[in-house]
Amino acid sequence: MMSKDNELKPIEMMKSEDIHRRRINLTRTLPRQNAYTLALDGEFSSVAFNEERAPLNKGKWRESVFEKKSDALMDLEIGTGNGTFFAYQAGKHPERLLVGMELKYKPLIQSIRRAVKQGSKNTAICRYHAFNVDLLFEKAELNDIYIHFPDPWVAPRKPKNRTVNAELLKVMYDLQRPGSKIYFKTDSREYYDWSLEQIPMTPYKLEASTTDLHQSEWAASNFLTAFEKIFMRQNIPINMMILSKE
Ligand SMILES: C[S@@+](CC[C@H](N)C(=O)[O-])C[C@H]1O[C@@H](n2cnc3c(N)ncnc32)[C@H](O)[C@@H]1O
Repeated sequence: MMSKDNELKPIEMMKSEDIHRRRINLTRTLPRQNAYTLALDGEFSSVAFNEERAPLNKGKWRESVFEKKSDALMDLEIGTGNGTFFAYQAGKHPERLLVGMELKYKPLIQSIRRAVKQGSKNTAICRYHAFNVDLLFEKAELNDIYIHFPDPWVAPRKPKNRTVNAELLKVMYDLQRPGSKIYFKTDSREYYDWSLEQIPMTPYKLEASTTDLHQSEWAASNFLTAFEKIFMRQNIPINMMILSKE
């Protein structure tokens, strides 16, 4: 069960700072379980957390989930998809911890399975909505945040649903430690331009930006995610920005 502090309030009781909240269904109440929901609460339950168990780790991910000290570096990837970056990053940086966040069961399990199978001990994943990220982490609990190809909400056009928005960025800023970064990539120029306009409304510094990542100085060090490969095959230029908290 969720602790009282982390419980989602009814919409009419929400304060203005809570209004970004999104509700998602509970795995426990699904009419039918499948191999992925069973794996979430079974085989992978020590490193994969459903929407009720995940917030119980708030403020203690390092110590409780990873058995590490409070100064360990711990990053978050929002929307892991099938987890190719998730596993790559975990393998490349065994000295850092990586928490994934994913709404859908299949990619969630694919991600954690990929990481566990390669022997990574530094990953955990949770089924959660990005807009509720502050119910999962305390202020200054996170280091870097990766947001790769989030749903652009251009058709239908619903900018309020975009993850890289000023309100949520301000929330994420508080959750990060000084010196941390947000890495954001999108195939959608519309989303990218819209997000660029959001940055001055937040405390973040725009450290780097490009509308053609694969032709830029960052191309050599860039990891191609599963969606990025699809966009690449379609010759769609990739937009990227790095935000920093000083
Ligand atoms: C377009 S895919 C990109 C996946 C991966 N990052 C990549 O680059 O291949 C977006 C992913 O974000 C997940 N997602 C969408 N909205 C989300 C939200 N609000 N919170 C967490 N994950 C979300 C989707 O389920 C999907 O797996």
